Amino acid sequence: MLPIVTEELSKTYKGSRLSALDKVSLRVEPRQIFTLLGRNGAGKTTFVRICATQLMPSSGTVNILGYDVITEANRIRSLISIVPQEARPLRALTPWDHIYNWLQIRGEDRIQAKTKTEAILQDLELYNAKDSPAMNLSGGMKQKILVAMAMATDAQLLFLDEPTIGLDPVSRRQVWSAIKKWKIQGKSIFLTTHYMDEAEMLSDRIAIIDQGRLLSTGSMEDLRKIIPQKVRIDIAKENVDYDMLRPFGSVIDTGANTIRVFAFEKAAKELSEFALRRNIAFTISPVTLDDVFVSLVTNGDTRDKPLRDRLFRHA
Ligand SMILES: Nc1ncnc2c1ncn2[C@@H]1O[C@H](COP(=O)(O)OP(=O)(O)OP(=O)(O)O)[C@@H](O)[C@H]1O
Ligand SMILES: [Mg+2]
Repeated sequence: MLPIVTEELSKTYKGSRLSALDKVSLRVEPRQIFTLLGRNGAGKTTFVRICATQLMPSSGTVNILGYDVITEANRIRSLISIVPQEARPLRALTPWDHIYNWLQIRGEDRIQAKTKTEAILQDLELYNAKDSPAMNLSGGMKQKILVAMAMATDAQLLFLDEPTIGLDPVSRRQVWSAIKKWKIQGKSIFLTTHYMDEAEMLSDRIAIIDQGRLLSTGSMEDLRKIIPQKVRIDIAKENVDYDMLRPFGSVIDTGANTIRVFAFEKAAKELSEFALRRNIAFTISPVTLDDVFVSLVTNGDTRDKPLRDRLFRHA
């Protein structure tokens, strides 16, 4: 049974003219980590909340583990678990209370609940803080309580909406390894993030969403191929124009004071010589996956038609 299948899913919030989701069709395979990547306001939380039966779609269909989100929401709820983006633990309750009680509410017996609570507290290094009220814990530790609650359950499908926001690098890695452990148990994970390193570290497949529309879906490798060039050059907008730069590579307007060119090594060398001769400021760096993300979702005008076509062909 596929964890998530959506067909032409759209959502327009009441009173809003714009679609938060616009005909999103997506398929998530079992036992995979699927990441929805997008910047603020792209529609990630809206997508997660609809799939987790917390919000009604405006149109389209959503099937979770074989059940329809509108007619079979109750069946879905016992099979999934979610770390919502905006949730906070209760101030007076300890990490232990949160997790142990949550497992009991979900129907686990005391012994099972105790064993699972201990294990997840250890995994996420919350064990020493297990008896402290949440109000005495740091922001990152509070976030880890929510992750721990969701991960301690026996759900088949886990939704994590930006689970590592506010966590330090060590805590982020603890959450990442807990996510990987979940996957090893044969479960499916749907993750949202705007951190490329997180997506890269964890994902089997990635979908990029912007302004409610899916732009691209594929593996990390597919994503890398979107920009085949190896070098990124940002060049001050004054004194150059697109036509001047186009011979050197793919030209993108990032909306900042610079124009961005993705170039192969030889062209990059020529372009830097060209800029030096004319005394134009520029910076040069290797192309990263962040660049792929930024070029896909940039508000700026994508003048380079072949690149734009290539981006959208992936969708
Ligand atoms: N309750 C709501 N009522 C009206 N509009 C909303 C509501 N929730 C979200 N939106 C709008 O829907 C769009 C998508 O929002 P959503 O929260 O899904 O984005 P997101 O990708 O999760 O962003 P972020 O990275 O900031 O969490 C945005 O334009 C947002 O303003
Ligand atoms: Mg969100």
